[in-house]
Parts: sequence; C-alpha cells; structure tokens
Amino acid sequence: MSKKIQFFDTTLRDGEQTIGVNFSIEEKVAIAKQLENWGVDVIEAGFPVASKGDFEAVSAVAKAVKKAQVTGLARARKGDIDACVEATKDAANKQIHVFIATSPIHRHDKLNMNKEQVIDAITDSVSYAHQFFDIVEFSPEDATRTEPDFLVESIQAAIDAGATVINIPDTVGYTNPEEFAKLFDNLRENIPMFDEITFSVHCHDDLGMAVANSLQSIKSGATRIEGTINGIGERAGNAALEEVAAAMYVRKDYYDATNNIDMSETKKTSDMISHFSEMPVPHNKAVVGANAFAHESGIHQDGMLKNPQTYEILTPEVVGANKTTLPLGKLSGSHAVMQKLNQMGYKVDREDMKRIFPRFKNVADNTAIVSEAQLREIMKKVNEVIA
Ligand code: KIV
Ligand code: ZN
Repeated sequence: MSKKIQFFDTTLRDGEQTIGVNFSIEEKVAIAKQLENWGVDVIEAGFPVASKGDFEAVSAVAKAVKKAQVTGLARARKGDIDACVEATKDAANKQIHVFIATSPIHRHDKLNMNKEQVIDAITDSVSYAHQFFDIVEFSPEDATRTEPDFLVESIQAAIDAGATVINIPDTVGYTNPEEFAKLFDNLRENIPMFDEITFSVHCHDDLGMAVANSLQSIKSGATRIEGTINGIGERAGNAALEEVAAAMYVRKDYYDATNNIDMSETKKTSDMISHFSEMPVPHNKAVVGANAFAHESGIHQDGMLKNPQTYEILTPEVVGANKTTLPLGKLSGSHAVMQKLNQMGYKVDREDMKRIFPRFKNVADNTAIVSEAQLREIMKKVNEVIA
C-alpha cells in the first residue's frame, strides 16, 4: 500500500523570515485558509514568543483554521512553550514544534552548551510541552551537521520525553540526497521506535537541493515534509512545497506515496503568496512560473501540436494555471505560426506558409515575441502582394 505524506507548511513562520516580508494578521489568516484549501496537514503560523504581532497572528490563525493542525514554534524553553500553549488554545487541531540546535558549531559558538546540557534541555522542554500537547514535534536544528551518534542520542531523548514527531532540519541547506539517505539509514538502525514515530524533514535551499532532499526523504522513511509556498524563506529559502507536490503527482510511479493536496489549488495559492509577500515568481520557476507551460522553439512547438506529452509532463490544468501557450519568436516554426493564424481567423495551409513564413522570420528576428498585431500586419502585406 502507498504511504501517506503529510505536508507541513511554514510559509507564515520560516517564509516570513524572508528579508522584506511582513504579512499582516489579515493576510496570515487569508493565507492559512488558502493553505487549508490546498490541503496542507499542518500550518506553522508563527513564533508566538517572538513578538506581540506573532502571538496575535498565531492566535488568529488558530481560530480561523478548521481542519489542519496549527502549530507555533518554541525554543527549548518554558516561556516559549507557554506562549505556544496560549496562542494555540482555540485551535480545533494543534501541535507544538520545539527545537534546539545539536550541531557542534551551534552548541559551542551559538548556545555555549555542552552535549549534556543540550540533552537536558531536550528532555525538560519536550516533557514540559507534552503536558499541554498530544503531538509534540522536536527538531534538532542543524541536524545534517550534527555528529551521527549525537543526533541519535538527541532524538532518542526527545522520544523518551514524549515527542511523537521528529523533524530533521537541513538548516543551512548543506546536505545532498545521497547523504540524507545515509542519515536516515543511521536513524532507522539506531532508533528502535523508528516506525512508530512520524519523521519529518525541513530542507533549506542554499545549494539548490531543498526539494530534491525532501523528495529523497520519502524514499528514506519520512512521512512529513516541511516547506513553504514558492520556496520563500530565510536566505535562499525553503523547499517549495508546490514542487514537492508536483513531483509526487508526476512521479507517482517512483515515490509510491499519496498526500492530501488538491493540485488544482496550486497556482492560486502561489499567486496569493507572491502577492502578499510582494515577491514576483520568476518566469522560469518550476510548476508555477509564467513560462512553466510556454514553448517557444520550433521543434518543441511542432512536438506540442502533434502530442502535448512530447514536452509537457504536467499540464497547466492540473495545477490550476492558464492554458499552455506557444509564444511566437525567432525560434518558432512554420507549424505553430500556421496554427496561430488559423486561430486568429485566417485560413492558411502549408502552401500559404511558404510565402508567409519568411516575412514572419524577418519580423521575429527583431522582436522578442511576435504579437497578434504584428501577425495581422504580416498578413496584410502578404495579401497586398497577392492582390
Ligand atoms: O531551519 C531550521 O532549522 C528551522 C528550525 C526551527 C526547524 O527552521
Ligand atoms: Zn528553517
């Protein structure tokens, strides 16, 4: 049987850590409702102890969301956990997300704590959080740069203290799919309760591998993937959840896993985040970019007209985007130009194209995309010559 992958969205927390992004409470509520329509299982609404605004936003999202679990983020400290308890008190479904860094560089240079102190902090904070939440997620921050033995020890301490979800953050986007798989093999070998725990991953994109690492984790035993819409987030951002969803959709044969995502809501969700974050989506962005379903070269356009599957593994309809386009430029072929002219109402066949196409090429050589107005002008000139 296929396994089920939960989607954990942190657009409102890690996503908001993007430089220049500051969602209002109203925007956060609107985003949370759209994330719920899209089908995410968990919404990380903020870091309640961080500011009054963050606290109020988590509280507002907790009240507005009906199906998804709402979570707040907490450092391994009672005050942070208390703030999460209070902010999520009205949520229909909730969990908490507690973290502390475990890697040597973070222990020594950031926290000034030794291994024993980190383990004590995990035990104290997770067991404290467990008094208020049935679902406690624990993250060993910078897990991928943590000594493998100490990572196991930290995770085991969290499980012993009541954590039911263990998230593996690739905090600085350092790992790669092969190495990530080995990290999971080590956890499976050394954590006796591996199969009873929900393993989650949280990958950053510093080396452009956040989505690839997240997808690898499905193969390695993770059943929850964390990320953001459009991949927004700290530095180079987080794993783009719409890309993870699309890969799972297109490559069902490979990942053999299901999720609750409604693919047809994907473009709408992406547009909303782009609008509220004031971050335009790059045209060539996978799945939701303006060019993701546009084909310019003649060979590609000819293939698309014969069978769209020659160059499209995902159709725009699936993600709720506008239809495929074949913009006409200097690389376009006669087949696509003929099709466009016929769509515009001209009756032209291959024979006619012998006269039309050279004129099209002249215009296309000096412009990025040939517009309908330019095509009409070309046809006027051709018809004048015939007359
Ligand atoms: O990147 C990270 O390590 C985080 C943790 C808080 C999970 O965002
Ligand atoms: Zn992060």
